[in-house]
Amino acid sequence: MQGKIAEGLNKEDIMNDAYPLAMSTDEIDRLRMQSDLFRRNADSMLTEVGVQPGWRCLDLCCGIGGITDLLSLHTGPDGECVGLDVDKTKLDVASKWAESLGLKNVHFVQGDAFETGLEPQSFDLVHTRFALGIVPNGTKIFDHALGLVRPGGVVFFEECDVDAYSCFPEHPLWNLALETVVSCFHHLGSDPMLGRKLYTMLHRAGATNIRVRPVRYALRSGEPMTYHLPLTLFAMRDTVVSLGLMKPEQLDKTVEALMKHLSAPATLSMPFTMVQTAAVI
Ligand SMILES: C[S@@+](CC[C@H](N)C(=O)[O-])C[C@H]1O[C@@H](n2cnc3c(N)ncnc32)[C@H](O)[C@@H]1O
Repeated sequence: MQGKIAEGLNKEDIMNDAYPLAMSTDEIDRLRMQSDLFRRNADSMLTEVGVQPGWRCLDLCCGIGGITDLLSLHTGPDGECVGLDVDKTKLDVASKWAESLGLKNVHFVQGDAFETGLEPQSFDLVHTRFALGIVPNGTKIFDHALGLVRPGGVVFFEECDVDAYSCFPEHPLWNLALETVVSCFHHLGSDPMLGRKLYTMLHRAGATNIRVRPVRYALRSGEPMTYHLPLTLFAMRDTVVSLGLMKPEQLDKTVEALMKHLSAPATLSMPFTMVQTAAVI
């Protein structure tokens, strides 16, 4: 398994500035797995907040597509869904994916989520997932995202909280892997515990109708997201090593041992809590 991961990372791998998750075929698979797992949760929140046909929606930091497929379905042929990301390679994957799904009301733009240059108050809904808490200094995107929504429009944030990330039976390297990932994020100015804080941030910003829904899953061996922690550690390999948090061989051995442990039929893992927060601006 480790050999397969290592093959995915080659000279074309991309690191944009401080963003810690290296781009590779494995990273595309990892993002797709996350999207698949949380798809029905995003879908039901879009229904709950009442996305209407014809709405103009933005998925900030959409990566390889984010929830633009769901936004497309909810807004219908008269809607417009924009996916924005800084990484052109991911946007190329997103465009091909949207085309393969026949999504006619979706398009992607390359831009910086901190300062998109998009017209203020021009969207009915702005969404981010795994961005405010993952992108270095990502909480600074919060104010900009709010400013892009029309008065009475909706913001919808889906961010993680790693507090209860666990597996059973326990593994001696689990905490090392988790602490390394968390400390890598902290070093870069990211906040992997942002999930619990968004309600307060929105409340203080004067938002109304704030909905909060923590989402958790229990994963058995064979389910792709089961390997999320070692895959994330591996995707952060270059950053972790350059920060001196782990030596390359130690990281590789940790990834390999955890992949093996998580593939045992009796092992159960409970990944981070994904906290969905939506509100009216
Ligand atoms: C963890 S991924 C999440 C992708 C997507 N939201 C999803 O849930 O599948 C975070 C994304 O933020 C993007 N990103 C990082 N810094 C950015 C910036 N300054 N502006 C826009 N996108 C950025 C990365 O390229 C990456 O695609």
